[in-house]
Amino acid sequence: MNNFTYHNPTRIVFGKATVGHARKYLDPQKRVLLLFGGGSIKQNGTYEKVLGGLPTPPVLEFGGIEPNPEYETCMRAVEAAREAGIDFILAVGGGSVVDAAKFIAAAIPYRESDPWDILEKGAAVNAAIPLGTVLTLPGTGSEANPASVISRRARQKKLAFIHPRVQPAFSILDPETTYSLPVRQTVNGIVDAFTHVIEQYMTYPVDSPLQDRQAEAVLLTLIEEGPKAVAQPRDYNARANVMLAAMWALNGHLSCGVPGDWSTHMIGHELTAFFGIDHARTLAIVMPALLREQRKAKHAKLLQFARRVWGIATEDEGAAVEEGIAAMEAFFHGLGVETKLSAYEVPPDGTAPIVERFRAADARLGEHGDLDADRIEAVLRACA
Ligand code: NZQ
Ligand code: ZN
Repeated sequence: MNNFTYHNPTRIVFGKATVGHARKYLDPQKRVLLLFGGGSIKQNGTYEKVLGGLPTPPVLEFGGIEPNPEYETCMRAVEAAREAGIDFILAVGGGSVVDAAKFIAAAIPYRESDPWDILEKGAAVNAAIPLGTVLTLPGTGSEANPASVISRRARQKKLAFIHPRVQPAFSILDPETTYSLPVRQTVNGIVDAFTHVIEQYMTYPVDSPLQDRQAEAVLLTLIEEGPKAVAQPRDYNARANVMLAAMWALNGHLSCGVPGDWSTHMIGHELTAFFGIDHARTLAIVMPALLREQRKAKHAKLLQFARRVWGIATEDEGAAVEEGIAAMEAFFHGLGVETKLSAYEVPPDGTAPIVERFRAADARLGEHGDLDADRIEAVLRACA
């Protein structure tokens, strides 16, 4: 097992009818910015419940954060928040609203240069406004981690930053807020969370049986409970199990002591930046091709995945590995998620600019740093 430090200060408030519990965790003196998306929280009653649970009314409301939150929109929120003297952000929505809140929190006090530098140049985040969340779409894990992903469509860029100062102080996870999710978003969340586990699990063994089994537990829970939540949107337990699994998939604890490989996300973010494909759907496209490309380096864990997660007993190890990857693809297809770029009308040579971008950056992805631009090109070809 590798060395690690682990600190997760986010208070998780989980369960039925907790949506209006912000009062317990919010200082009434705070000048709150209520941040939300395109209106789902007003349609499903979440907005009223959150508002009714605040100790004092928000000083500012800012709606219209879009999926794959846009830098320009975030900067409009930053301007308004600076003017209103905001000192706490309450994000109500999915991963995009939470990610936007984190970037806005860091950008408000940032005066050194264009806050885009936080994303593009890794500029230091020396201060941030504290934030809390009410999560309405489980999947990203953003509610319990220090990461944020922001898009700048004019430049076809989608970039992440990670900083402990933007870790939410609290997150309220009421599974009933997810009853209104369209199927497309429910399955996006399941696939995203599944991939987060794989990115922290599918490397090479470091003799960490507890981490392996916890990762497999989250995968098995998503495989069992995900389809139930799709079939019965108001099945409380299925919704709760998916919500807990998604939070557990990316609150940092699965990566303790083990190597990670975020290649699927790195390539997937480019597919969203260039073609606007939903985040989770890019992962369902890239991951099977990437695992096949890396099947030698990842052999031991791929075999373990096939045997323990999918129960594959085939004796020939190479065949078992392939059956495991195929079982994962079948799981995605069963959720109605496509695994090829052609389904999104991306032509076979459409990904050439992405390969060039990785080449220009002299990319070396993967747990061994051996996935270079040529091999990324091979992965993307296999995604066609
Ligand atoms: O905007 P509204 O009207 O709220 O509608 C949203 C949006 O259209 C809707 N929705 C959310 N909750 C709902 C609901 N509709 C009905 N009922 C509800 N309860 O769902 C749509 C998608 O929302 P969005 O927040 O964009 O989805 P998701 O949670 O999948 O977030 C995706 C973003 O998170 C980033 C992705 O790259 C992408 O930008 N990620 C963030 C990560 C992190 N911070 O750790 C890690 C992930 O790997 C990911 O990269
Ligand atoms: Zn993701």
